Amino acid sequence: MIVTIDGVAASGKSSVSSGVAQALGVPYVSSGLLYRAVTLLGLEAGADLAQPGALLPLLSGVRLEPLASGNRVWNAVHDLTADLHSTRVDTGVSVVAALPEIREWVDAQLRALPAPLVAEGRDMGTNVFPHAPHKFYLTASPRVRAERRARERPEDIPAIEAALTERDRQDTTQSAPAPDARIIDTGPLTLQGVIDTILEHLR
Ligand code: C5P
Repeated sequence: MIVTIDGVAASGKSSVSSGVAQALGVPYVSSGLLYRAVTLLGLEAGADLAQPGALLPLLSGVRLEPLASGNRVWNAVHDLTADLHSTRVDTGVSVVAALPEIREWVDAQLRALPAPLVAEGRDMGTNVFPHAPHKFYLTASPRVRAERRARERPEDIPAIEAALTERDRQDTTQSAPAPDARIIDTGPLTLQGVIDTILEHLR
């Protein structure tokens, strides 16, 4: 069984997916972490983030470790996970995610993982796992999402909201909900409320 949970930036996808995966006793994978890892390695190498030919050779040691409690991304023996949510990675990641060659590489990593799993991202239900039997799509207003993210970042809410809105714009192509996805507005719900809503649908 595969459950897909897609949604806009900072809609709570990772926390919700982790909670759902733990309740089901299966691993979850965050596809955004792979796009973020490519971005980080590109930035560290001083590569042009718009050139797949400069990025693909950096990826041979990159591996996603799916865990119910939180995924980790490794580059050979180095755990990159803690460095993947910086503002500079946020700013560059949409450029990297727009490259078809990089999307193919990420999709191949994800499709190689054994089911059951919960897969979280933008195009899990539309593109990577179109035959998944259970699909969800999380939304919330830009202000609600910025307020949530402000608890994790040392920036003010209007700046975060502007950056999120810009990232939504850049991600529009790959962020449409699957026609058979259940759309959940997480604005009025607590984290546990969203998890319970999904678990109820799965029962
Ligand atoms: O989900 P998260 O915000 O960590 O994703 C980071 C970025 O990775 C997104 O802004 C988007 O550009 C890209 N992404 C994507 N497709 C996915 C997951 C993430 O294009 N399935």
